[in-house]
Amino acid sequence: MRSMLLCVIFCSLMESQSDCLKVVGPAASLVAVAGEDLVLPCFIRPNTSAVDMTVEWFKLDEGFSVVHFYNDHEDKNENQAESYRRRTSLFKEELPNGNASLKLSALRVSDEGEYKCLIEDKSWSDDIVVHVIVEAQGSHPVITMESYDNSGGIHLLCESRGWNPEPEVLWLTEKESL
Ligand SMILES: *[C@@H]1O[C@H](CO)[C@@H](O)[C@H](O)[C@H]1NC(C)=O
Ligand SMILES: *[C@@H]1O[C@H](CO)[C@@H](O)[C@H](O)[C@H]1NC(C)=O
Repeated sequence: MRSMLLCVIFCSLMESQSDCLKVVGPAASLVAVAGEDLVLPCFIRPNTSAVDMTVEWFKLDEGFSVVHFYNDHEDKNENQAESYRRRTSLFKEELPNGNASLKLSALRVSDEGEYKCLIEDKSWSDDIVVHVIVEAQGSHPVITMESYDNSGGIHLLCESRGWNPEPEVLWLTEKESL
């Protein structure tokens, strides 16, 4: 509240109000499960319409790939990275409230990483970074016997795919316990 008041005072001293607008996002990483939909929060404070602004969402850790692009009152996703096709949207009814949050559908493990939300107006721009963690439960482990060796031992193979983060593997004999 106090910072808002300071901002209003500061703004009234400035030529244009946009000098003290800020883009705000979540303080902590977002953790979600593969397959689910996720909302990546990003909004302008104080409450200012983003309808006439440009909203750009990028993924940072593959160079700088375009995740979603809104400009001139419409989505312009010709340059969107292939892996995000038909999986992103803005909440158009929320743009008048300065809410440029991104909805990302059917999360994949490859969606994990850092996303930049950049909001631009003619005379102003600001951005934030949102960190996304995508957890995935892999397949049930399957244990098979690979081979015998000369000393009478056997080699067992345990296989399971699709986990994120990677699981720890612990082999125990019948006598051992956790
Ligand atoms: C932002 O302003 C709009 C229009 O005045 C209002 O409907 C909305 O509730 C406000 N949102 C917030 C988060 O203050
Ligand atoms: C932005 O819009 C989304 C979707 O309606 C909503 O879940 C979220 O709470 C909104 N955020 C803010 C700060 O208003």
